[in-house]
Amino acid sequence: MIPDSDFYNQNGDLLSCRSLGKKLGISKSAASLLIRKFKARHSTFDDEYSLPGKVEESESVEAADETELLISNPVNAKRLFQSIDELRPKEPKKQFEVKMPKRAHRNIIILNDIHFPYHDEAILESVMHYIYDSQVDMVVLNGDTLDCEALSTFQDADRAPFGEELDLARSFIKQLTKIARHNNAGCEFVWIDGNHEARLEKYLVRQAPELLGLSVEGNKVLSIRNLMGLDELGWQYLSYSEFLALPGDLYIQHGHKVSKHSSSSVGNSMRDQGGSVIIGHVHRLGAFYVTNRLGTFRGFENGCLCKQPKYLPKDSANWQRGFCKVTYTDETTWHVQQAFIQDGKFMMDGKLYGA
Ligand SMILES: [Fe+2]
Ligand SMILES: [Fe+2]
Repeated sequence: MIPDSDFYNQNGDLLSCRSLGKKLGISKSAASLLIRKFKARHSTFDDEYSLPGKVEESESVEAADETELLISNPVNAKRLFQSIDELRPKEPKKQFEVKMPKRAHRNIIILNDIHFPYHDEAILESVMHYIYDSQVDMVVLNGDTLDCEALSTFQDADRAPFGEELDLARSFIKQLTKIARHNNAGCEFVWIDGNHEARLEKYLVRQAPELLGLSVEGNKVLSIRNLMGLDELGWQYLSYSEFLALPGDLYIQHGHKVSKHSSSSVGNSMRDQGGSVIIGHVHRLGAFYVTNRLGTFRGFENGCLCKQPKYLPKDSANWQRGFCKVTYTDETTWHVQQAFIQDGKFMMDGKLYGA
């Protein structure tokens, strides 16, 4: 490597730190160090290495950098360039580095069939602990959060008052909102009605059709959305007939049909929906996979978080308690972790909850 005319000033044979640094893609001070090393190697170079200002040998490199360092002999300049690779400070050895993904993952927690006031308090508390420990981007309550027992057509003298259910559910979602936002202020929330919430509209149709559409300032007064205060709490609302469409052809819906065995209900929902589906409603856990020429589709039944209601014979229900976490590892790729809750305990993300 031989210096070209860029390194000479109009006098013909001068080289500066600034132009040397520019040429080599290094800083002026690094270029200064190179010249100093070179100077130390070639004692004869001393005489030919000059500074426009008077800089003592003991002065710092920084001080010298302030001054244009000049090499006034083209032969030495050539020698300097020939030995540059040797003189260049060695790059420190790169450390072993593992590239950790940025938090590109998005976690969605899906809970359903809590059936206030028949909720399982201990289980809900453990689920809350899990959410507290997690980084959650969306929480979905996928139907039958309320039992709406008092609004059913079943004749039972001992029916839970509707107001009591609302109070319990409202305090639950307030706490849930707070806990989920504890690690992620931007967490989103979605409420989907189940067939039990749909009891309110059916009740009004039967008993008080005049009040069905009653609205004040645009708010439908006698609606689950209004009674639960979902708008004020920042929750998105979907009715029983709607579903939440997520990327990667994944649909979250409460569910309408119940088959006898685990996973066959969601298989039916997948045929109806034509994609991958997560449902509640059946109170069972299950997984159903189908691969065809269009791809692989997955269906999950998401268990329940309630106790067996008093109107069912003791231990007669083929139910499992559970919930799931859906994790997006990119825009459309998702993975499901199902929590199977047994005796109030479950494992999620390698940790035991409810013990
Ligand atoms: Fe249910
Ligand atoms: Fe249901």
